[in-house]
Amino acid sequence: MTFAISLTINRTQHDIVLDDPRVTLLDLLRERLYLTGTKKGCDRGQCGACTILVDGRRINSCLALAVSHDGADLLTIEGVAEGDTLHPVQRAFIAHDGFQCGFCTPGQIMSAIGLIREAQAGDDPERIRENMSGNLCRCGAYLGITEAVCAAQREMAAADAGEPA
Ligand code: FES
Ligand code: FES
Repeated sequence: MTFAISLTINRTQHDIVLDDPRVTLLDLLRERLYLTGTKKGCDRGQCGACTILVDGRRINSCLALAVSHDGADLLTIEGVAEGDTLHPVQRAFIAHDGFQCGFCTPGQIMSAIGLIREAQAGDDPERIRENMSGNLCRCGAYLGITEAVCAAQREMAAADAGEPA
């Protein structure tokens, strides 16, 4: 038995036939579409390395069955930059040393973009740490990560308000 689904991934529509209903979005992205920027850490919802945005909300893609997301709009780390122009969150991670080995970084960046869109934390470091607590970093780059999310939040809020950069 096969299952036909349609997904918009990074602004491009994909018609996909699954031969196994147990395929996760993470495995679909990495092993079928070769979008390997999304990382597999624990594969059980504990590390956040696989974070992507689905219909604008951040999820652990290792816990999401592809067949359950027919029609969904996905954004992965590969779709965040606009051509050669990095997303403000990507720039902030570079400027504030928000990574060491980089393994957790795609998930951290996707989670940060989701958090800023949710407007749950503003530029309050404590609330950012709390709202990013599902994204683990074995290198312990948390200080830079928090600073980066604060800075990106401020930059994006200023841009939304029409203030000069
Ligand atoms: Fe999905 Fe760890 S790989 S939460
Ligand atoms: Fe190495 Fe986070 S930068 S795991």
